[in-house]
Amino acid sequence: MQSLVTRRPDDWHLHLRDGAMLEGILPHSSANFARALIMPNLVRPVIRSVDAAAYRNRIVAALPIGHSFEPFMTLYLTEATDPTDVEAGFRDGLVCAVKLYPAGATTNSDSGVREIERVMPVLERMAKIGLPLCVHGEVTDPAVDIFDREAVFIERLLLPLRERLPELRIVMEHITTKDGVDFVASQTKNTAATITTHHLIINRNTVLAGGIRPHYYCLPIVKRESHRLSLRAAATSGDRRFFLGTDSAPHADPTKECACGCAGIFTAINTISCVAEVFEQEGALDRLEGFIAINGAAFYGRSPNEERITLIRDAEPLKFPTKIETGAGMVTVFDPQMPLRWRTKRADIAT
Ligand code: NCD
Ligand code: ZN
Repeated sequence: MQSLVTRRPDDWHLHLRDGAMLEGILPHSSANFARALIMPNLVRPVIRSVDAAAYRNRIVAALPIGHSFEPFMTLYLTEATDPTDVEAGFRDGLVCAVKLYPAGATTNSDSGVREIERVMPVLERMAKIGLPLCVHGEVTDPAVDIFDREAVFIERLLLPLRERLPELRIVMEHITTKDGVDFVASQTKNTAATITTHHLIINRNTVLAGGIRPHYYCLPIVKRESHRLSLRAAATSGDRRFFLGTDSAPHADPTKECACGCAGIFTAINTISCVAEVFEQEGALDRLEGFIAINGAAFYGRSPNEERITLIRDAEPLKFPTKIETGAGMVTVFDPQMPLRWRTKRADIAT
C-alpha cells in the first residue's frame, strides 16, 4: 500500500448553489477541502457585499456538524456594481474576489458584463486595493466558434486589460486550452489560472463521439486532446501560477438530460481521487500538494492549511456513487472512465 501526506486542499472555483441543492452537495466539498472560493452565479446573483454576507451565512448553516470549511466569497460583477461596496466588502474580510462573466457566456450569466468600459471604475479600484478579479474567459460573439472562444477572449479582452491595468490581480478561471496556458505563462506578475479536474481527464471526444453525453458538457467546453495535454503539463509542472479550481457545478439530472441541457459537471465527491490519479500518471505526485494546497493560497495571499490529509492508494479501485440524491433532485457524479485508487483519509472525519 502506497500513501502520501499533503496539506488539506483548497478549491479555488466551486459552485455550491443554494437551498436544498446546497445542503445536498456541500458535505462532499467540506469533507475534503478546507476552504473554497464560492462562485456567485446563483439564480439571483450575489452582487452586493450584503448578498455575499447572507450567502456565506447560509453556507455555514448548511455545514454538517464536525466539518471545518471556510467559504471565501466572491461578488458577481455587473455594469452597475459600485466600487465603494466592493471595497467595503474587501476591507471587512468578506469579499475575496470579484467574478467577471461576459453576459450570456454560461449558467446564470445574463446580468454579467456586456461592455468592459462600463466596469473599468470597479476594476481600477480593485487594482488599487489588491482585490483579485476572476474571469470567465470566453467571448460570447455568436460569430466565434465555441471551441475558439477562449483564445479569442485572450486576444480581444484579456491582453488589452492586462496592459491597461498591470496591477490588477487576474485569475483566468478554468482554462481549457494551450492558449490559456501560454497566456498565463507569458505573464510575469499578477496573473494565474485555475484548472478543473475534468479538463485534465476528458477531451471533446468524450462528449461527442459515439453519442452525445450531457454529463460531460460544461463551459468552457472541453477541447481537443492536444489542449488537454497542455493543461496536464501546466498542472503538474510545479509552476505556482496554476492551481486547482474544480468548477464542480451540479445540475439536477433532468436539466442536463434534455433537448437543451445545462452546462456543468459535478466532481466534488471524487475530485481529489481523480487529480491524484492524474498526477500519478504524469509521474508528478511530488507536485500534487503544490497544485491542490499551496499555489492557490499563495496567489490569494493566504497561508496554506496546517492540517494534513493522507492519500492512500488502494489495490482495488474505489467505488463512488454514480449519482447522489439531493433535495433538489438526483445529480450525476463525474465518471472519469478510469479506475480511481487514491482515497483521502482525515484524522477527524470517518471516511
Ligand atoms: C457553471 C455552472 O453551472 O454554474 N457551469 C459550467 O459548465 N462550468 C458555470 C461556469 O463556471 O461557467
Ligand atoms: Zn464555474
